[in-house]
Amino acid sequence: MDIYEPREDSYLLQKYVQKYALGRVLDLGTGSGIQALTAAKNLKVKEVVAVDINEQAISELKIKIKLQKKIKPKLSDLFSNLNHKFDTIIFNPPYLPQDKGIEDPALYGGKHGYELSEKFFNQVSEFLTPAGKILFLFSSLTNQKKIDKIIENNLLNFKQLAKQHIHFEDLFVYLIEKSNLRKELEQKGITEINYLTHGKRGNIFVGKWNKNIVDKKLLTTNNIKVAIKTKRKESQAVERIKNEIKWLKILNKKQIGPKLLFYGENYFVYEFVEGTFILDYLEKENKEKIKKMLVNVLEQCFLLDKLKVNKEEMHRPLKHILVAKKPIMLDFERCHHTEKPQNLTQFIEFLVRYKFLQHKTVLPLLKEYKKNIKQKRILIVNFEKLIQNSL
Ligand SMILES: C[S@@+](CC[C@H](N)C(=O)[O-])C[C@H]1O[C@@H](n2cnc3c(N)ncnc32)[C@H](O)[C@@H]1O
Repeated sequence: MDIYEPREDSYLLQKYVQKYALGRVLDLGTGSGIQALTAAKNLKVKEVVAVDINEQAISELKIKIKLQKKIKPKLSDLFSNLNHKFDTIIFNPPYLPQDKGIEDPALYGGKHGYELSEKFFNQVSEFLTPAGKILFLFSSLTNQKKIDKIIENNLLNFKQLAKQHIHFEDLFVYLIEKSNLRKELEQKGITEINYLTHGKRGNIFVGKWNKNIVDKKLLTTNNIKVAIKTKRKESQAVERIKNEIKWLKILNKKQIGPKLLFYGENYFVYEFVEGTFILDYLEKENKEKIKKMLVNVLEQCFLLDKLKVNKEEMHRPLKHILVAKKPIMLDFERCHHTEKPQNLTQFIEFLVRYKFLQHKTVLPLLKEYKKNIKQKRILIVNFEKLIQNSL
């Protein structure tokens, strides 16, 4: 493997390494060692770990740095051979979209060019101190919008330090750090935070929560999988998160909703539900299990109706009910008090629409239900029969 000769990208990044590198530094994909050698000259820098996947680059760097005691060259595929946190992480990645038939790990970052960078951003936070900074270079050929999204989805903030036009591309240098939300979550003991998905208004992340950090009295180390919900940047609905926290607190007492663990200004953390979305469950599971599950949902709907609460969207709960040991309703952001709750009616509508119940058979029952909400047991038993017959 050839060692990457410093070029325009290297020299552009070098300027910012001179300015920003401090403390313990990691130079990832060190190549010729240009960034590591630059960082080591800075008095604020204590140590530079210079890694590369290219053995040749590492053995040549070992010879080159004989007098420079601050630099520690190491063979590593991204972070695979590292176990420390750093104050500064420098990365000038291979960022070009793959050219057919040419293999060069110094140039190509994957099919679209950003794949290796995505892997880097998914892991980097575990190797960065809370106040640590990342200096990252990439090109317009890598797809700037995609890079911005990857950074944001990892709960990191970026600032563009430079943009330079060369030949057929623009080069960018970003200064990246942990967002306040990430810092707060990490401080509360959450690690391995990763983006999972988003709804209309919220982003969902997953992570591992080490309960001991929050509750020192607990003797056992309990690592549980958690989900973190935050407001999407694009969404205007600021109060939704607060609303969901309020309702989860109330409804958790009735065993409804995922278990709320803790929350802050713009987010909340709840126990991750390892389950199957309702429609998949209805398609795959056996009749007895389906019947039990549906009756349980009906009972939860009934409870919500009794509390005069509308969860909303129960007529389309495809992504809002996960079935684990029991069905767990998700997404209470639009939940509100009402004199005319419709949870049960909406859920029955859903079962009719997906042909699990027949419209003409449920209609009399629904009418009855609207008139007399108190007769819960009788109604549930009747619905149970209907479900039994239709399965
Ligand atoms: C564009 S060069 C940058 C070299 C040098 N840092 C500079 O600024 O000139 C990218 C470097 O990343 C290294 N590299 C590629 N994939 C890697 C991986 N998975 N882990 C570590 N280094 C990698 C390559 O061997 C190459 O030395």
